[in-house]
Amino acid sequence: MRIDVLTLFPEMFESPLAYSILKRAQDEKIVKIVLSNIRDFAEGKYNKVDDKPYGGGPGMVMMPGPVFECFEHVQAQSAEAGKAILLSPQGERLNQQIVRRLSSQKRLILIAGRYEGFDERIRIGLDAEQISIGDYVLSGGELAAMVLIDAVVRLLEGALGDADSALDESFTDGLLEYPQYTRPEVFCQMKVPDVLLSGDHAKIAEWRKKQSLERTKKKPAGLT
Ligand code: ADE
Repeated sequence: MRIDVLTLFPEMFESPLAYSILKRAQDEKIVKIVLSNIRDFAEGKYNKVDDKPYGGGPGMVMMPGPVFECFEHVQAQSAEAGKAILLSPQGERLNQQIVRRLSSQKRLILIAGRYEGFDERIRIGLDAEQISIGDYVLSGGELAAMVLIDAVVRLLEGALGDADSALDESFTDGLLEYPQYTRPEVFCQMKVPDVLLSGDHAKIAEWRKKQSLERTKKKPAGLT
């Protein structure tokens, strides 16, 4: 998979992409992540990327020109056309179902905005899907893009060390994950449930399913 990110702050992505699963997935060519600076495509002496909103109002709006130029530039870098995704609080709220759909694509082009938002013609002209990572407002789309990248890349074949661990976890079957325990057997007077020490695999599976169902009942929004 190839993921392009169009942003005014490519440096923000360096650290999250340099560790653990995201690093390994890039090293092993499971994913190629290409960062592009929208400002490099701005015109004029000051490389202006934002301007005042028509009709007045507070804040600044991302201009369509630099975003379009940047998008066309990266789109042309690969024969595989990428789908444009705008990170925005106005988008559809990200969930595991959307993550799965995106992880099946060959290419994504994420656009992270700053300021009060994007000129509407960016969304229309690029036929962009809008995605939000939650009902709150961030200072920009970069952190949202990183969340999306992390969730998508870990589903790519080979990205996780243990091939099974993406299958057996929260949300994959619509249920939240059961409680997990590791050593020591007793910690601060809290003991690992006996069933997990029993070696009876059928009983363990039954206990885990019951725990998953109970957790999901308590947090119905987890059913996605
Ligand atoms: N940009 C600002 N807030 C955002 C959010 N909640 N999700 C995605 N992009 C954003």
